[in-house]
Amino acid sequence: MRILAIETSCDETAAAVVEKTGKYTGKILSNVINSQVEIHAQYGGVVPEVAARSHIEVILPVIEQSLHDAKCGWDDIDAIAVTKGPGLLGSLLIGVLTAKTLAIAKNKPLIGVNHIYAHGFAAFLTENVPEFPFLALTVSGGHTALSLYQADLSREVIGETLDDAAGEAFDKVAKLLGLPYPGGPAISDAAKLGDATKYRFPIANMGRESLDFSFSGLKTAVLRQVQEITGQNPGAIDAQKSYTLDQQVVADIAASFQKAVVDALVKNTVAANARFSPKSIVVGGGVACNSELRLRLHEKLPKAIFVPPQLCSDNAAMIGSLALQMAQNGMFVTPEDLRADSSLESI
Ligand code: KG4
Ligand code: ZN
Repeated sequence: MRILAIETSCDETAAAVVEKTGKYTGKILSNVINSQVEIHAQYGGVVPEVAARSHIEVILPVIEQSLHDAKCGWDDIDAIAVTKGPGLLGSLLIGVLTAKTLAIAKNKPLIGVNHIYAHGFAAFLTENVPEFPFLALTVSGGHTALSLYQADLSREVIGETLDDAAGEAFDKVAKLLGLPYPGGPAISDAAKLGDATKYRFPIANMGRESLDFSFSGLKTAVLRQVQEITGQNPGAIDAQKSYTLDQQVVADIAASFQKAVVDALVKNTVAANARFSPKSIVVGGGVACNSELRLRLHEKLPKAIFVPPQLCSDNAAMIGSLALQMAQNGMFVTPEDLRADSSLESI
């Protein structure tokens, strides 16, 4: 079985062709990503209207390129999969409408995919295949969740962020420190030259039993520290402003902030593993590119499977990977029934 997968939930327009190789596994025949990062960097973050317009402009060439790279014609494609949520509604609609139209025009079965599930299922495209039930730590710009996935593709969310996502915290703190968008890689780079013990930023105490996260207090603590150092805007709560700081101060704050986020992610993942004893642990999503997180989690949980960096940030191959398993379970949808859902929770 070969699936053409489409992803447009945020600021990457992506299409991929994946092929089934085993009960749960697949291989990537092509994986095309058109990133809008440079466009949004001028605004310091994703502008939803600009993202939607850019998806419209490039989606068809991106799909054509993915078929070309995979050396496939339409006859070689057995189904079309698309991200139906969660994400930015205007962006999701472009992918969903395109997939529906192609499914009707080319007479192909259609599969609607949950983007957050798919981040963890990217691991089935690698040599390090997870076993069910697996625990997934999904850390991205929009989501931070610990979930248990079963072979029937059901999911139980056992911990999630109550406010900002981990990636969102990276992006906001980077902006505060005058670092470019996207903030995650910029903070990670700056932190390499910093002292992570220089500033003590608190990690939220969510209660002994809780596996939830909260990052908005951490962001405010960084803001207060920056205001204290610069003497500017004392007490203001506007985290949108950028401050000009000495390079070493930026490095020390970046390292201390990154340590606090990683501490929280490691603590809850270790606790979830102890409580649920999953067969495998998968770490995926854009923030899973973070080398400090990889290092610290690996120390505590050597069995953790890290999705390779190129499949951590948004891509369509991961959508195809989950779609291969959905197809196996007969989880198809008609074009009439497929809807974009910006706050989708189910598969
Ligand atoms: O999964 P993703 O590409 O898009 C969403 O679904 O949100 O994740 C993007 C997020 C951004 O917030 C970005 O700053 C963060 O992942 N990110 C990182 C790193 N690389 C990307 N965060 C921390 N360290 C990194 N190296
Ligand atoms: Zn994502």
